[in-house]
Amino acid sequence: MAKRKVLKFPDERLRKKSKEVTDFDDELNSLLDDMRETMYANNGMGLAAPQVGVLIRAIVMDINGCYFELINPKIIAEEGSQTDDEGCLSVGSFSDKVTRPYKITVRAQDRLGYKYEITGEKYFARCVCHEMDHLDGILFIDKSEHGKEYIEKHGKK
Ligand code: CO
Repeated sequence: MAKRKVLKFPDERLRKKSKEVTDFDDELNSLLDDMRETMYANNGMGLAAPQVGVLIRAIVMDINGCYFELINPKIIAEEGSQTDDEGCLSVGSFSDKVTRPYKITVRAQDRLGYKYEITGEKYFARCVCHEMDHLDGILFIDKSEHGKEYIEKHGKK
């Protein structure tokens, strides 16, 4: 296992759309192991593969001590809404209010390729939505209350 470098806004790779995972092989396993280590080393709640420069649809998360891996995730149901502060390992120390669904059901695959569905509320729902946005090149500052100001100030290299 090895810790990987987390890309920071405005790195252009964070703006790319990631590809579906088709090979559930050793390379994927070591990427996921590295992502887990990188997330914990940075005290993150979640990390998406594009944040370490690998443009595939894979996410790791830790919600209240429970570790999740979601490959090729798709939200199949959502309910309600919640507005709360969000931050991101790719966006420095800035945090800001974002509105997300309160409860979601997501369909995904594990690292062996097995399909599963999981329903979760609050932090789980917020984190899945945040990390899934990364897979489409979207950052929380694109959606947050004062994100536009942050992008204007820090968006240029
Ligand atoms: Co993030």
